[in-house]
Amino acid sequence: MDAIILAAGKGTRLRPHTETVPKPLLPVQGRPILDWIVGALPPVERLVVVVNYLAEQIEAYLASQTHVTNWATVRQSEPLGTGHALMSCAAEMRGDRVMVLNGDDLLGRADLARLAEVPAGILAHPVQAPKDYGIIFQNLDGTLKQIIEKPDGLEPPQLANIGAYVFPRSVFGYTLPKSPRGEYEITDAVAQCAAAGPFRVVPATYWLPIGNVPQWEAAQTADVRPAT
Ligand code: G1P
Repeated sequence: MDAIILAAGKGTRLRPHTETVPKPLLPVQGRPILDWIVGALPPVERLVVVVNYLAEQIEAYLASQTHVTNWATVRQSEPLGTGHALMSCAAEMRGDRVMVLNGDDLLGRADLARLAEVPAGILAHPVQAPKDYGIIFQNLDGTLKQIIEKPDGLEPPQLANIGAYVFPRSVFGYTLPKSPRGEYEITDAVAQCAAAGPFRVVPATYWLPIGNVPQWEAAQTADVRPAT
């Protein structure tokens, strides 16, 4: 299995802190967010990090870390969305599956290990604000039925997409539609995979979202042991 970490974004919700440091390199308890994520990965053949904004800093970090030796970066020079970022990595893939992670939240090592066991799937964690997330609906057998992006009017709690997926290599053969916001969305790649075969919903026991400055500040004193 390979891994892709999406780390090209501008981190606008973390401004002004992201004006000189890309969000994946903001520290949480003394370690860059990206270092927590790379350190929590299950064993992978190859790690590809999608970069653009302040890319040189992320490349310098990757050159200095010791978790993964076989890594590369792919430059996403246009902000065409997470689905476009995924597809940009096609030529760098080596394995039969790929784990794809958002580069900006802390995830649990044990949860990623469980996700790595399924042929195709997505981590899910309950949230109290469904309108801020992609909300996951399951079939009775625990496979994915549908993800609805940022729905209005749903009673909490709901199960959210926390930005961790395993795709079969066949995902790189899909053609993604342009979404209403003019981007190619990774959730459309999930929908196409789920239509082609079982896509497991894997419950996550841990998730430390760092979506805004108060969450980043709270992370400095949060229990991060599950991410180690
Ligand atoms: C993205 C996904 C959404 C998911 C969220 C997790 O949203 O589109 O499904 O719940 O990440 O952080 P974004 O953060 O781009 O608004």
